[in-house]
Amino acid sequence: MSNDGVNKGRRRLLVGATSAVGAVGAVGAAVPFVASWNPSAKAKAAGAPVKVDISKLEPGQQMIVGWRGKPVWIVRRDQSALDNLAKINDRMADPLSEVPQQPAYVPHTPARALREDVAIMVGICTHLGCSPTYRPEIAPDDLGAEWVGGFYCPCHGSRFDLSGRVYSGVPAPTNLVIPPHNYVSDNVVVVGVDQEKG
Ligand code: FES
Repeated sequence: MSNDGVNKGRRRLLVGATSAVGAVGAVGAAVPFVASWNPSAKAKAAGAPVKVDISKLEPGQQMIVGWRGKPVWIVRRDQSALDNLAKINDRMADPLSEVPQQPAYVPHTPARALREDVAIMVGICTHLGCSPTYRPEIAPDDLGAEWVGGFYCPCHGSRFDLSGRVYSGVPAPTNLVIPPHNYVSDNVVVVGVDQEKG
């Protein structure tokens, strides 16, 4: 639960550059730029939306940003990672996300994303609330030959794929939650507000 912005293990991780949307408008041109990237603790505690620049997020990398006191993961996926999602449908407990764990406007496809190359989810295990570990490797020794990348919960062994879909036969009952979010440009997503109806 304490991995907000912290790289556990040696995987590459971008610490999210974030700002509270509510704070941005109050920042004048004369205020140092950094001010807009450090929302007050009060704003964070109130659950202010979080604006995230994903321009430097490369395929295979994970960012972790805090929203409402929870870690939100943002992972860039390449085409081979996306291709693997469809191949493991039969190993998922809820491959098409029929149990509501995501906003209505996020497609109920294996990719579970507004943009297939970018996965966004709340990094809290749906079993008892631990924060799973990002394991993007293919077939690592400890996770087995069939592992195609995903998230592993060290508390009781639940497994999730790179879309946050839960594997069958693990303690976690449902897929990971996808928070409300909205892309305001190619490289900027706001977590905590719903997609604008277009
Ligand atoms: S909290 Fe993740 S498996 Fe139990």
